[in-house]
Amino acid sequence: MKKGFDGVVAETVSTSSSVRLSFAAARGPKQVLFGAGQRRAAGWVTAEHGNRALVCADPYLVGGRQLEEIIASLHAEDVRTSLYSDVVPELPVSGVNDAVEAARSFGADVIVAVGGGSSIDLAKLVAVLLRHGSDLTELYGENRVPGPSVPVVALPTTAGTGSEVTPVAVVTDAGRSSKVGVSSRHLIPVAAICDPELSYTCPPAVTASAGADAFSHCVEAYTAVRHAPDPALARDRVFVGRGETTDNLALTGMAHIAAGLQRAHREPTDAAARASVMYGSLMAGLAFGTAGTAAAHALQYPVGALTGTAHGVGVGLLLPYVMAHNLAVRTAEMARIARILAVEEVAPAPAADATEAEFAAAAPSMVAQFLSSVGIPRSLAEIGVEEDRLRWAAAEGPRAARLAENNPIPLTTADAERLLAAAWTGDLSRIQQDPTEVGAR
Ligand SMILES: NC(=O)c1ccc[n+]([C@@H]2O[C@H](COP(=O)([O-])OP(=O)(O)OC[C@H]3O[C@@H](n4cnc5c(N)ncnc54)[C@H](O)[C@@H]3O)[C@@H](O)[C@H]2O)c1
Ligand SMILES: [Fe+2]
Repeated sequence: MKKGFDGVVAETVSTSSSVRLSFAAARGPKQVLFGAGQRRAAGWVTAEHGNRALVCADPYLVGGRQLEEIIASLHAEDVRTSLYSDVVPELPVSGVNDAVEAARSFGADVIVAVGGGSSIDLAKLVAVLLRHGSDLTELYGENRVPGPSVPVVALPTTAGTGSEVTPVAVVTDAGRSSKVGVSSRHLIPVAAICDPELSYTCPPAVTASAGADAFSHCVEAYTAVRHAPDPALARDRVFVGRGETTDNLALTGMAHIAAGLQRAHREPTDAAARASVMYGSLMAGLAFGTAGTAAAHALQYPVGALTGTAHGVGVGLLLPYVMAHNLAVRTAEMARIARILAVEEVAPAPAADATEAEFAAAAPSMVAQFLSSVGIPRSLAEIGVEEDRLRWAAAEGPRAARLAENNPIPLTTADAERLLAAAWTGDLSRIQQDPTEVGAR
């Protein structure tokens, strides 16, 4: 039954003429390049946007051949460079001002980001502050960036956050209880260069957390709220909810991540697996960068604050509980997700002749098994959340309104309490939704 890398997308993603088209939107960089070795295109891509580049790179790259090649390709196109590599994972806000100073004193007119989500998010914020020079805290939230920023060319080394194509950057602000986001269309990098070879050195734990994050982006974009297609929708919201384009991107992303993640985790230099997961995370970024993510991301904020665990660990752990919570209002979508995992044989599946409802019901536990096969923990207790902090976390999660409202059942504090209590024990069966009680949108 397993179809392998070539067959998987054709098998699991079909566009049907019977789909009723109501709304579609797509946003992204002006240019997206994908493929092994594409990092060497950084020079000509960047030269189209500036000739003094701050190279904002993850410290692990410094002194290595890959970063040297990228910098050499910039120099070959007469782009002068200054290297900034003081990037701290999960991006504490205190580091942002240093990087802005470095960019300003060099006179940077373009930023080249090479690294995981933390490095790319840093580059995006530096680019905004360079142009708009204000206090970062004034930009927290949605649509508060006044206009275009300095161009960013992003080369991800994890697969991944999708930050190379998304309109958001996330920081840890010690003055706030949870992470905070800056989201605006003006944050989307001008170009994304996705070279799977950059991810070969990712340790298994980073491969797993980044892969779980990317898979969650697909699921949350695909099951997100659907808004009425008002002409002002895409102006007023950075994240516009699901639509036809993002559904297809999300399904393609899921298929590729399912096809490659376990192997990329087990065999870090497996070229086909790394390519599959990086392509999947790119699709995931394009999907959620327009549609948005939802409750698993909202609840990760307080969980991350309590435990210091990586973003992808918290999101991947919480995702199955959120799926179980949303099941009654996204049954067809859950069945589709289960079938994708079944095709790739990454989790025990219902029999091939099982009904749609049986596939849908199996989806949350299939996702939990798939993600735990790469080491994502199954319960909040396992990652050190104290039971007496659950109530605080439940109050905090829905405060990330752009995420809470993007869930097909808008996340309330009461929902969050139930979800987190179940996630604390690791018992998915504690989440059940009565379709007659939920107000689906
Ligand atoms: N902007 C967005 O759209 C978006 C989406 C999701 C998450 N995020 C944010 O991104 C951050 C997480 O990013 P991430 O998961 O990519 O990890 P990361 O950038 O925080 O890096 C994690 C660790 O992996 C190392 N690393 C990265 N690539 C490597 C490689 N190829 N080889 C060896 N080591 C490598 C880094 O040095 C670091 O120690 C969080 O702050 C999260 O909130 C942003
Ligand atoms: Fe994420």
